[in-house]
Amino acid sequence: MEYKYIFILIVFFYLPVLIIGQYTLRGVPVKRYLVLDENYRLQCDVTDSSNAVDFRRNNIVVCSILSQSCESQSTNNRYKCGCINNNNKTLYLNINDINIKDDSTWSCKGNAGGQSSTTVTVYYGPENIRFNPTSNNIDVIEGKSQSVNCLADCNPDCDINWSKDGSTTILNNPLSLSTRIQTGVYTCTVKHIVFNKQLTKQLIVQVYYGPDELTFSPDVTSINIIEGGDQTITCLTDCYKCNYKWTGPEQVLSSSKDLILTQIKRNQDGNYRYEATNIKNTIPKTRSKSLQVNVHCRYKYFT
Ligand SMILES: *[C@@H]1O[C@H](CO)[C@@H](O)[C@H](O)[C@H]1NC(C)=O
Ligand SMILES: *[C@@H]1O[C@H](CO)[C@@H](O)[C@H](O)[C@H]1NC(C)=O
Repeated sequence: MEYKYIFILIVFFYLPVLIIGQYTLRGVPVKRYLVLDENYRLQCDVTDSSNAVDFRRNNIVVCSILSQSCESQSTNNRYKCGCINNNNKTLYLNINDINIKDDSTWSCKGNAGGQSSTTVTVYYGPENIRFNPTSNNIDVIEGKSQSVNCLADCNPDCDINWSKDGSTTILNNPLSLSTRIQTGVYTCTVKHIVFNKQLTKQLIVQVYYGPDELTFSPDVTSINIIEGGDQTITCLTDCYKCNYKWTGPEQVLSSSKDLILTQIKRNQDGNYRYEATNIKNTIPKTRSKSLQVNVHCRYKYFT
């Protein structure tokens, strides 16, 4: 029973005192977020008779005010504090050139014990758009999946999207690259979700592929040519980027897709081979195909 009265006594007589001992710290005007490089003011309403009141950022004093004279001292020239209308009960802290460090918990604290705090959010970006891996040009080998992440500094996180070759189709970040049709010029767009601000950056993608299945044109595996005759055989394949080679019975004949035989001689009879080799480590890296060339004698009926 006595305990009950003591409890009521505490609630009614001490709680208001505790509340009075609590300062009020708020932004003026009240904002949901602050913007980098802008200015802002915090106001502290003092409810006790402290001789000195500090403004603190993450509990480190940045500016302090003497109640008697309203004189102030700051540790950084971005911060200025003082009394509003010379009233030592209403104090201000001006934050100039807001930077990322200002995204923190601010407090005002009197030496008699009163204090209050508030958390400030600084929005910024997009800045420093970049890729991971970092290059603006990327070589991809078909079938070996490669992803490219587009990054930027933003608070809160920005929307990040890709588009290809000026198309309006939106691609997700990170980009996932693995097939030949993905060769092209990509644009990463980073948009702030609150400010109307965006940055873009281009990425050039080259997908290396092939050689695909080889075919000859004309489509033969062996060919009969009469001595002295001419014949051109072209090897067809899809590849980016291959080196080509024709070899004959005796030597390397050509480093193009075409085997050109002119005024063919008997000693050119034999097995020919075509080889396509990708300059990158594609799978397979090399394909080859053989061609049997039969040189027939010209029978001279007239002498
Ligand atoms: C605050 O200002 C009033 C009026 O100028 C002054 O009388 C009082 O002493 C000051 N308070 C402190 C704690 O110095
Ligand atoms: C871009 O990406 C975000 C996710 O980061 C998504 O919410 C948004 O709808 C996308 N589209 C456009 C056109 O920005």
